[in-house]
Amino acid sequence: MAVLDSLKHRIMDSGPLYFDEFMNEALYGPGGFFAGDVLRSVKGGDFLTSPEVSPLFGATLARFVEQERARIGEPFRLVEVGAGSGSLLASLLAEIEVDAWAVEVSPPARLALEAIVPAVRVADKAETAVGRGVVLANELLDNLPMSLAVRRAEGWAEQVVAIGPDGLTLEEVPARPEVGAWADRFSGPVAEGSLVEVQLQAAEWVRTVLNLIGEGALLVIDYGATAEELEPRRVTGTLRTYRSHHLGPDPLHAPGQTDITADVNFTALMAVAEEEGAAVELLRQDDLLTDLGLREELSRLRREELELARSGDEMARLQMRSCHTEAQALLNPRGLGDFRALVARK
Ligand SMILES: C[S@@+](CC[C@H](N)C(=O)[O-])C[C@H]1O[C@@H](n2cnc3c(N)ncnc32)[C@H](O)[C@@H]1O
Repeated sequence: MAVLDSLKHRIMDSGPLYFDEFMNEALYGPGGFFAGDVLRSVKGGDFLTSPEVSPLFGATLARFVEQERARIGEPFRLVEVGAGSGSLLASLLAEIEVDAWAVEVSPPARLALEAIVPAVRVADKAETAVGRGVVLANELLDNLPMSLAVRRAEGWAEQVVAIGPDGLTLEEVPARPEVGAWADRFSGPVAEGSLVEVQLQAAEWVRTVLNLIGEGALLVIDYGATAEELEPRRVTGTLRTYRSHHLGPDPLHAPGQTDITADVNFTALMAVAEEEGAAVELLRQDDLLTDLGLREELSRLRREELELARSGDEMARLQMRSCHTEAQALLNPRGLGDFRALVARK
């Protein structure tokens, strides 16, 4: 309730908040969803990400990091931004040795990182850590504050968070020029009344990181799609909340207690990366992991399982089977495999 109360006071003092301001407070402000004492991206938390599902996610991405190191040579640094519990770095660093950094804004996540990957240096902003090499961001950009634009006959409107008779409510105001410009450029055809999540901070983040890398690659993995593919989802928009692994309530109902997220518009990210001089590739997660050899690894696990069945070691066979099942989930074309991976090389 503390976050809800402080948001109400702020709105009473200075007027409605743009949705990106509201989302920033609800996720990262005092008592916010990522700012409290709870570590969110773990099995007992609120959502389950690829590195939490299977260590083979990090182990497979280790090959991407090695390919980039072979391409650009030393000095070379690996940075994961939004590293959460450290599950990706832990499984990746079990495969290769590399100078590794983690960037996290969440205090409980920073504590977890220090415990789980003690060799990794932990920073609270990208500017401290990112350098020549590879930057990974898994399910980060869907959590960066975004604005909500609505297509109206007279142009773009923007939703703001105000106080109504029953608590927080959304009202419409004319869109800020930068919000309207982004929506015009990146949302593709949008019917009147449809909703677009305007991801200016995600675009700025890509721009900043590519500048900091100088030479190397940025790999962004997230749910989302191109502007064209997102078109059918515009009618109600893609903004949603998660709590305890399930879709949560309206984002205005329990700020600070739910994750707030939306599909990432990869068309916008690709355009920014190209403007920054990067060579850009957009893949599906299942294709990226296949290219990096995950299916061969799955076949190897299957063979090992059969060997264990022959040897009669039932416990070891079951463990192998569960490794295999978890890793297969990374390739599920209707689940994690349908995530997108943006590779931007400089
Ligand atoms: C959905 S979690 C994903 C965690 C991890 N990457 C995974 O796949 O399990 C998003 C994480 O990004 C962090 N985060 C959000 N904005 C950030 C920023 N600007 N810089 C660094 N970390 C950020 C949050 O604190 C949170 O831990």
